[in-house]
Amino acid sequence: MKYFIQTYGCQMNYSDSERIVTVLEKMGYEKTNGFQDADLIILNTCSVKQKAEDRIYGLGEIFAPLKEKNLNLKIGITGCMIREASGIRGDVKHDVLNIMPTIDFVFRIKDLMQLPEILNKLHKTEGAEGVKNLCDYFHIPPTIANLTQVFIPVSKGCNNFCSYCIVPYARGREECRPMADILDEVKKAAKRGAKEINLVGQNVSTYNAPDADPESKESHFAQLLRRIDAVEGVDRIRFYTVHPKDMTDDVIDLYGELKSMVPHIHLPIQSGSETVLKRMNRNYSPDRLRELVRKLRNRLPHMSISSDIIVGFCGETEEEFQESCDLVQELKLDLLYISKYSERKGTLASEKYEDDVPADVKKDRFFRITELMKDISHEYNQQFKGEKVKILVERIRKGYADGKTPEFKMARFKADDPKLIGKYVTIKVDKPMEWCLEGDVVA
Ligand code: SAH
Ligand code: SF4
Ligand code: F3S
Repeated sequence: MKYFIQTYGCQMNYSDSERIVTVLEKMGYEKTNGFQDADLIILNTCSVKQKAEDRIYGLGEIFAPLKEKNLNLKIGITGCMIREASGIRGDVKHDVLNIMPTIDFVFRIKDLMQLPEILNKLHKTEGAEGVKNLCDYFHIPPTIANLTQVFIPVSKGCNNFCSYCIVPYARGREECRPMADILDEVKKAAKRGAKEINLVGQNVSTYNAPDADPESKESHFAQLLRRIDAVEGVDRIRFYTVHPKDMTDDVIDLYGELKSMVPHIHLPIQSGSETVLKRMNRNYSPDRLRELVRKLRNRLPHMSISSDIIVGFCGETEEEFQESCDLVQELKLDLLYISKYSERKGTLASEKYEDDVPADVKKDRFFRITELMKDISHEYNQQFKGEKVKILVERIRKGYADGKTPEFKMARFKADDPKLIGKYVTIKVDKPMEWCLEGDVVA
């Protein structure tokens, strides 16, 4: 029998899907590359914006004819649409099951260990040896999709309750993995050729390990970074994401000290306005962001800083929006993931504030801040003209090989050999553009 997993959302979901693959393959399912010839479809969903959920509901129409064609086809949903509080064990009725009659089952990702049991009933399969008795789905080893750049969870859930955000309701409270488990996964990945380790968790700054060194004065996350840096083969570490309110100086001090701390950080600011940040319940001020960026650039002057921004949050005035633009410019944030605010039922913001910024204003602000980012990125990229940069090649497309530099800049060169994927290649940049650095390979 063939399975197909469609993953939406953030790196956490991509990493979770790698564990779903392990369970399915242990059960004897074989991977296929689309909905069409699958006997089992699993949607690993994102809830962060209403649109993401609507897209899933929209799939109902596609599934009905597929099910007519293949009577054996079963479809399940997991991920953030199946909330922590839903207490689902597959056969319990859930809203999604009412709205989408073509869905056969749902399960919370933390209940991944129950998946074999659900499928045994639906598909008369054999259970996956040893999965059911695990106490934590993180103990299911991932089937890594990309061997050179791996995503490894350090925690699940979130305690922050930013007022706009559904994640704490979707994923529950923060739970951290023991350092030994994370390191074990890192070592296994490094042995198989992983060069870049991406640590994922909603707020890695509050990482709290049961097995950290009690003698050390360093934060647990700094300790974890040190240990990962020491693993042979690892030469780039990135993490998604730190929270500006919790980021510690000892982590900042590792830049320039540890070989694998690349000159790039993702620092989600969300807004540059003191008043909006208060309404968002982010618990930091624009000055705190200035202080963090100053300290980071003291360590590495050319540090590239990417960020998340929400435009059109409840009550956001033109002045408040302008404060975001000003701060993005001042801090020289060279890559932004910009979202138009989407009201999420059940969050603090939906109860306390009105979603009163009109759609066309949100759109206009999205456009204006995108233009600003393009300018900053273009300017930042000029420093690479004539410079050599080292790319970790990710793919071959349209006659080019591309990948990221340590600064997380997309860079490319003319090539068509798929064997280059996963290798380091150094190019001399002759064309620094907004989104990409282009050049020729140097020996
Ligand atoms: N833990 C991460 C964020 C996870 S959600 C952090 O604190 O940065 C990913 C991003 O989605 C957020 O950074 C935010 O920019 C965006 N986002 C979350 N909720 C949103 C909402 N209701 N509307 C629009 N964007 C949202
Ligand atoms: Fe959401 Fe805030 Fe938690 Fe990030 S830190 S997941 S934005 S509640
Ligand atoms: Fe989406 Fe869940 Fe990630 S809501 S952004 S998939 S944590």
